[in-house]
Amino acid sequence: MLPSTLTLYLISLLQATYAIDLTPLDAHESLKGAHRRDHSPSLQRRASRNVPPDGFYNPYISGGKLLTLMETYPPNQGEPLNAVISGNSDERVLVDQEVEGGLRNYFLSLGFSGNCLGQKADSFQAANLGDGNGDKNETSIMRWNYGDAQLGSCKETIQGGNHFRYWIQDGKDANSGAIFMATSYEKPIADHHDIIPDGYNLGRDWLVGNITRSEIKGPNITDGMTFSGNTSWSGYTYNTFIKYVGGILPNTSDGVNHNYSVPVDGINASDGWLAVLEVKIVEAPSKPNSAINIAVPPPWQLLSFLVALAAFPSSLQVLSML
Ligand SMILES: *[C@@H]1O[C@H](CO)[C@@H](O)[C@H](O)[C@H]1NC(C)=O
Ligand SMILES: *[C@@H]1O[C@H](CO)[C@@H](O)[C@H](O)[C@H]1NC(C)=O
Ligand SMILES: *[C@@H]1O[C@H](CO)[C@@H](O)[C@H](O)[C@H]1NC(C)=O
Ligand SMILES: *[C@@H]1O[C@H](CO)[C@@H](O)[C@H](O)[C@H]1NC(C)=O
Ligand SMILES: *[C@@H]1O[C@H](CO)[C@@H](O)[C@H](O)[C@H]1NC(C)=O
Ligand SMILES: *[C@@H]1O[C@H](CO)[C@@H](O)[C@H](O)[C@H]1NC(C)=O
Ligand SMILES: *[C@@H]1O[C@H](CO)[C@@H](O)[C@H](O)[C@H]1NC(C)=O
Repeated sequence: MLPSTLTLYLISLLQATYAIDLTPLDAHESLKGAHRRDHSPSLQRRASRNVPPDGFYNPYISGGKLLTLMETYPPNQGEPLNAVISGNSDERVLVDQEVEGGLRNYFLSLGFSGNCLGQKADSFQAANLGDGNGDKNETSIMRWNYGDAQLGSCKETIQGGNHFRYWIQDGKDANSGAIFMATSYEKPIADHHDIIPDGYNLGRDWLVGNITRSEIKGPNITDGMTFSGNTSWSGYTYNTFIKYVGGILPNTSDGVNHNYSVPVDGINASDGWLAVLEVKIVEAPSKPNSAINIAVPPPWQLLSFLVALAAFPSSLQVLSML
């Protein structure tokens, strides 16, 4: 690996980033604008939400399923939608925004950020939640940020880690407002973002473990087992009540992506436990709307971050592949 190659790569990454976000602040402002526009229809839909006691509609009842649709080899493999934020959660948490304690602020409280520097995802998955919307593109993808809300998801992209895609069950046939998440722990980009052994079940249990701050052991789970914990971000504290439910998510390796390597120790790639998260806001800042603090960092900060990142052997491996 020649140092000049590395420098060239870093410069091209900087250029790519700042060509999209010419002036970081303006770019962020316009992103916020886009967000609001995107979500006005869902605000209207929220009004007609009809939430069953379980907090969501079982997608299998009306033609949906809890495996995503994606391009795979061999074809027709999907990834388990193994966690769901109940439609009985606080209304504010069910709105896909970072301000006012919304869903993205909740995700930040769990240690997950949006894609590295707001870049568009390089791959997409769809899901049919049985709500009348048919196969629908993911709403977004969130990545474990290693404690750095601004740049940590860049590290996740290169080194791997926990991440999830999510979809909102808001079609006219089953408008619960629940948010379905496909969590998994992926390997570094150098390993083509494959999933680690048991990585779907572990991704879910580590997410829950981060909320409860205690280890959740998949094989020890029993039907109806509950946990709870509090997490905070930007002045909002969320209380999450978690219930593991069996009988809805398939307990199988059949049709699950990477099923030649993910099932281990006799545990299926999808172990069949659906984690249902009911989220309440137990503390909010006295002045709402103070949650905007994730902006695109200044170029110098990014450059030093990338140089630091390049110090990791695994990212060097990636850079040398370019
Ligand atoms: C999913 O969304 C991405 C990005 O907006 C887009 O490129 C892609 O075509 C969409 N796929 C479908 C099936 O709508
Ligand atoms: C929290 O998440 C990280 C990253 O996914 C994981 O390594 C860790 O085991 C989790 N903690 C708990 C207690 O589950
Ligand atoms: C899981 O169950 C095993 C066997 O019963 C037990 O030894 C272990 O302590 C349990 N682990 C947790 C985290 O509850
Ligand atoms: C979470 O917050 C609630 C409300 O403030 C409190 O009653 C509860 O004890 C907290 N739970 C934990 C695990 O800290
Ligand atoms: C794995 O999935 C199959 C169905 O594909 C099921 O029959 C079997 O009981 C499951 N095994 C375990 C250990 O969960
Ligand atoms: C993986 O899924 C396919 C169905 O898509 C199935 O035919 C195959 O047996 C599965 N492999 C394993 C190891 O479970
Ligand atoms: C999955 O199947 C295994 C083997 O039959 C069983 O022990 C386990 O409890 C099942 N899991 C769920 C969530 O039903």
